[in-house]
Formats: sequence, C-alpha cells, structure tokens
Amino acid sequence: MSNIPVHVAGGKYVVRVEPSLLPKLYRQLRPLGLAKRKLFVVTTPEIWALWHKPFLASFPKGKDAPCILFLPSGERYKRLSALEKLADELVQAQARRDSLLLAFGGGVVGDLAGFLAAIYMRGIPYVQVPTTYLAQIDSSVGGKTGVNLRTGKNLIGSFHHPATVLTDPKLLATLPLRELRSGIMESIKAAVLGDARFFAWLEKNADAMLRGDVDALAYAIRVSVGIKARIVSADEYESGQRMLLNLGHTVGHAIEAATQYRALRHGEAIAWGMIAAVRLAAARAALPANDAARIERLIHHFGPLPRFSATAQRLLDLTSADKKNRSDTRNFVLPVKIGKAIVTSDVTTQELHRAIQSMMQAVRETGA
Ligand SMILES: NC(=O)c1ccc[n+]([C@@H]2O[C@H](COP(=O)([O-])OP(=O)(O)OC[C@H]3O[C@@H](n4cnc5c(N)ncnc54)[C@H](O)[C@@H]3O)[C@@H](O)[C@H]2O)c1
Ligand SMILES: [Zn+2]
Repeated sequence: MSNIPVHVAGGKYVVRVEPSLLPKLYRQLRPLGLAKRKLFVVTTPEIWALWHKPFLASFPKGKDAPCILFLPSGERYKRLSALEKLADELVQAQARRDSLLLAFGGGVVGDLAGFLAAIYMRGIPYVQVPTTYLAQIDSSVGGKTGVNLRTGKNLIGSFHHPATVLTDPKLLATLPLRELRSGIMESIKAAVLGDARFFAWLEKNADAMLRGDVDALAYAIRVSVGIKARIVSADEYESGQRMLLNLGHTVGHAIEAATQYRALRHGEAIAWGMIAAVRLAAARAALPANDAARIERLIHHFGPLPRFSATAQRLLDLTSADKKNRSDTRNFVLPVKIGKAIVTSDVTTQELHRAIQSMMQAVRETGA
C-alpha cells in the first residue's frame, strides 16, 4: 500500500510513501534504470541545510556525487528568470539529455524543477522528492509543472510526469505547523470529494496528525495521493473528472488574488473556498445539513483560518477571472455528500454571490 500507481498516457509511474525513505533514495532509482545517470538536485538553501545529510546518505561520493543547484525559497522565485538561471547552471555543469533531475522541496521547487526538466534540451526525466505536506499529497502528483507570470499564477507550464515520486513523511518534522495545517486542507478536500471513510478517519485522527505522528501522517498522505492518482489516471489533462480536484478553488483562488497571495497560505484560502462551496450546496439542498456541518467542523479543527477583508462583490468578480472557467458557463464543483462531489455548470451568479456573502460572515465570526 506504500506504492501508489499513477496511470498516464505514456505508461505508469509510482508514488512511494514511506517513513525513512530519504536515506535510501539512491536505491529507489536503480530498478527504474535511473541510477547510472548524471544526477542533479534542485532544492533551496533552507531545505538543504536541514536535510542534506540523510538526503546524500545513499548516493555515491566523489566524482559521481549529485550536483546540487539552488533556487532561493519563496513563491516569488517561481519565475522564468529563476528557471533560466538554473538552466544555464545545468549547461555549465554538463547536464545532458540523459541526466536526471531530482526536485527536493515544496511545491515551488517541484513545479519549477519539473518545468525545467520538461523543457531542458526538450525534456529530461525527473524525480519528485517532496518536502511539504502540500507537495507530498498534491503538487508532486499529476504532472502539472510551471512557473508564474507577473500577470498571474501558473500561466506558463506543461504536463511532464515524474519518473517516480519518493515521499518521506519524516521530512515534515521540520515543517512549520501552519504549513502542515494548510496542506491538510487539501486532504480534507480529497476526502470530501472522494472518500467518506477517509473523512471519518480524519475526524478521529486530526490530533495525531497535528502532533506530527508519522504513522498517521503517512496514512493520510497515502490515501490522499491515492484519491488524486485515481482521478488523474482517469483524466490526465483535466477535461472532466480532474476538475473535481478544484473543489473550493473557484472562491479560494479569488481570495488569494484579492489578498495579493500574502495573507493566506494556499490551503487556507481553499479552506474558506470549500466553506463557500459547502454553503452554496447546502443552500440548494444538494448537500445534507449534517454533512455540511461536519465538513466545516473538520476544517476549523485544522485551523485557525486567518481572517481577511474583501467585499463579496470583489471576490465574485475575481471568480470570473479564474482561468478554469471556460467561456461563459460557470463550472463549479459542488459537494453533494461527504465522499462525493460533482461538476455542475448551472450555478448562477446570484447563488455564488450569496454563498460568498455567507462565507465572509464566517470569516468575520470565526477567522483568527
Ligand atoms: N503542480 C500542481 O499540481 C500543484 C498543486 C498544488 C500547488 N502547487 C504549487 O505549489 C506551490 C506551493 O507549494 P508549498 O505549499 O509546498 O510551498 P513552498 O514550496 O513555498 O514551501 C513552503 C515553505 O516551507 C518551507 N519548507 C519546505 N519543506 C520544508 C521542510 N521539510 N521543513 C521546513 N521547511 C520546509 C519552504 O522553504 C517554504 O518556506 C505553489 O506554487 C502552487 O502553485 C502545484
Ligand atoms: Zn490547491
């Protein structure tokens, strides 16, 4: 159960989730035929300072040791300029088409290094070694890679699947608690849209996860990855089912944009967005009231969610700018019961406006 397959057009790859995998990384590359390649690691100085010893433990030393390249940490470096700099460094370090890139970091490193691998010499293989909860359950799986433009997030990119994803939940020991809580919101999302049993498990094991219990985290990561892998395997390029993964994201993205991506972590904005979606679904009696209450309670259990200020109208306007809206139909992911969500296109502007108003009421009452 620690190997989760992801099926894609070109074949399949495996996400391996196992505590203490980090000191054994190199061994995982051998069965994939990747160990003989020249190895390059993209990471940040902070992550490298914390984890370079176990990371390097299994790799050859001396002239065959991997070459380490650094990206400064922060979303503001997820840009073409940083990518170009790393590409030049790869050339200088003689990376070739048959080299292998390892992305060792959170979603920023994973997205940028994955995109670098997608376009360096028209594409080289790469492996994800994710270090944040969000990256372990979400961004490392599914093959979406890219960078931000000044005009918007993730607007340049490509689909490029990793050769494998090697996930060690023990890496989360040094992750700031707010990053962990924020990442867990995407697990709640996965449970709401696809797995009622997992939702009940999260209700029971929330405190163990927040304490950093490795077995609890490993279990939650495996199940969350399994849900995403199942959906991505059925719809690699987001033409249908994959849209379900956008539960909470229509309003969540609007909140991120309205607050200039500063006030909230991504998962926190998505948590508020899920509350809006839950209230919209409950208002049209598509979601039982008891399920709505359980979802909001679980979200707040992994809170507190930060307060922010924005008018409902402004958020509504920003939802129309969401690139995931196709033409004039409003695609919206509606939870219909715990464990099931659907994509509808009949959500009216007025309904969404009311749901956002109701969510803003919650922001004022319960936001920290
Ligand atoms: N490709 C996808 O499908 C996908 C999905 C969701 C999100 N994303 C992208 O992911 C990015 C956000 O990723 P993130 O939340 O991982 O943020 P991040 O990569 O910025 O990491 C968050 C912070 O945690 C620190 N950190 C990382 N690992 C650590 C560790 N083990 N110990 C201590 N500190 C650690 C980082 O230095 C950083 O300060 C966004 O750019 C988003 O667009 C992509
Ligand atoms: Zn998300």
